[in-house]
Amino acid sequence: MKNKSLITGFSKLSKDDKLKFISEWLKDTELIHEIKSFWHNDVKVQKLLDEFSENTITNFPIPFGVAPNFLINDKEYLVPMVIEESSVIAAAANSAKFWFDKGGFQAEILGTKKIGQVHFLWKGDARKFEFALKDLKEKLIRETYHINANMKKRGGGILDFEIVDMTHAMPDYYQLKATFDTRDSMGANFINSCLEEFAFILKDFFSESEYFTGSEKECTVIMSILSNYTPECLVNIKLETEVENFAHIDNELTAEQFVDKFEKAVRIAQVDVHRATTHNKGIFNGIDSIALATGNDFRAIEACGHTYAARDGQYKSLTDIEIRNGIFTYNLTVPLALGTVGGLTSLHPLAKFSLRLLDNPEAEELMKITAAVGMANNFGALKSLVTKGIQKGHMKMHLMNILNSLKASDAEKKQAVEYFKHHKVSYSSVQGFLEKIRVISVNK
Ligand code: MEV
Repeated sequence: MKNKSLITGFSKLSKDDKLKFISEWLKDTELIHEIKSFWHNDVKVQKLLDEFSENTITNFPIPFGVAPNFLINDKEYLVPMVIEESSVIAAAANSAKFWFDKGGFQAEILGTKKIGQVHFLWKGDARKFEFALKDLKEKLIRETYHINANMKKRGGGILDFEIVDMTHAMPDYYQLKATFDTRDSMGANFINSCLEEFAFILKDFFSESEYFTGSEKECTVIMSILSNYTPECLVNIKLETEVENFAHIDNELTAEQFVDKFEKAVRIAQVDVHRATTHNKGIFNGIDSIALATGNDFRAIEACGHTYAARDGQYKSLTDIEIRNGIFTYNLTVPLALGTVGGLTSLHPLAKFSLRLLDNPEAEELMKITAAVGMANNFGALKSLVTKGIQKGHMKMHLMNILNSLKASDAEKKQAVEYFKHHKVSYSSVQGFLEKIRVISVNK
């Protein structure tokens, strides 16, 4: 183990000096050149990227792909997806193509409400809130006018307040719970600015209000922060078609057999937590990749989605299925707090491009598109899982990664791609193949 010593002043070093420091740390001077090779050659773009975060030393490229043929509420999209995992884009594109002539993805917004909380401690008679709340609400709205005005002009803003008694869970613990409509922005900055202001107003209210006496005039604010759990910022995607339309989906299964296996697969994800996690992970393969491409906060979206999946006390599938009277109906309901203005969405050149590719959608439209991509990935995964399995397709897509890790030349890659059209891909089979063709070429 290295000798421990506190590093001070790292953030103050220039980018070059940070790299020098790291190369000394790793005792590898070669790496500076390699790490720098990922710098953008346009200094203005590089500066922009550097300023998104702290202590930046370089960029981390991840493939940016496009999935065509997404028909969502009768509008056709080319969907931008940023993801490193092989076969996610292929799966999304295949599903989109399959559903294109079957009505596509039917999307519906079920709500756009966001939530923030001021968590505080207070001792007193909680029944008084019943009378005091009206005055408190008025004061909160009046005194945050300067923050709220712009958002109101855009048709959103602060919606409502409630005092939540949490003393059953922790002594003296209450919340001021506020709801917001942040229109086309994800709204984190707006909500957090409002909440920090609410905290001051709340303290004043307790000390000034005639409703409260003695120790009731004081409250201790613990923290003020938005909640990434937004169960009322929700979108639904429906896929629906006649069962007979699955007739040619697999060589070995009839349409009825396929649909039956598909239904069972969804039911398993509704009753088994291990399967549910993987099932939902497949949905987030799609959702995260478009969230990343459009400069949205995929961590917030994932955290929210998983909490929503556990809303009944058991974590389960975000999708639900019904097969009735020969009709296959598959639904995904997922909370998605997305933005199309503000933050990275309008700063990152590729996020801007992604939004342009999607015809510069409003936030609600982006929610629909994003959920549709999640649904496409889930449909693609289940379709493979209940038929030929995912590994054949996955390893085919992964072939390039294996060839690259084995330092295959372009000519070797070409031969390998041809050969593995008819053979099973695994690390050892690719290694064996390369060894064989390398021996042949030496002996030639
Ligand atoms: C792999 O990234 C995602 C899947 O495991 C999803 C699933 O099993 O449903 C294929």
